[in-house]
Amino acid sequence: MLEKTKIVVFVSGGGTNLQAIIDAAKSGLIKSGEIVGVVSSSPTAYAVERAKKEGIPYTVVSLKECSSRAEFEEKILESTEKYGAELIVLAGFMSILSAEFISRYRDRIINVHPSLIPSFCGKGYYGLNVHKAALEYGVKVTGATVHYVNEIPDGGKIIDQKSVRVSPSDTPESLQKKVMQKCEWIILPRACEKISAMIAKSKKGNIAK
Ligand code: GAR
Repeated sequence: MLEKTKIVVFVSGGGTNLQAIIDAAKSGLIKSGEIVGVVSSSPTAYAVERAKKEGIPYTVVSLKECSSRAEFEEKILESTEKYGAELIVLAGFMSILSAEFISRYRDRIINVHPSLIPSFCGKGYYGLNVHKAALEYGVKVTGATVHYVNEIPDGGKIIDQKSVRVSPSDTPESLQKKVMQKCEWIILPRACEKISAMIAKSKKGNIAK
């Protein structure tokens, strides 16, 4: 039996992507990884309630309550080390991580973004803004991307993408819902399994069955 990869999920909001990962772990779709902790940048994020409900250990590190970004990241790092994170999943995490933090977890951080990168991504493109921009541009197809996190916002290697058609009646809200349901909640758990399996196989002492 392979020892599972320890996944820590970073959140800031509703946590529907966190829920998709939890459900996929329960259904067996994610079999090579286990969620060992949740880190929230907001004390009021509903994602925290989801973690509580599932009995998943969680930590809230609020940027507002830290005297600097460095302190914020130090606290986050303390949590990821405490949980023994081997894979960090940014699931609606609204802070940009520093180069120092990223280098500490090189190729071990993945992110879900609600557009088909390289469209509508990078600084300023997050949450509903992304869908507003897609509608303003008039694209007929949009979607979601899961990618590795590097020093360039939304610039890391693409792991998976899924597309969806934009309909003339779509609003930013309806498009967000559609992209989440038809794209994000499918490709994020799938990527978690793929990368967890890769990490699990590379661990010393793990002998594939
Ligand atoms: C998701 O649509 C996610 O792709 C997006 O925020 C939402 C979080 O929803 N992330 C970004 O825009 C990051 N650039 P959730 O909290 O319900 O998972």
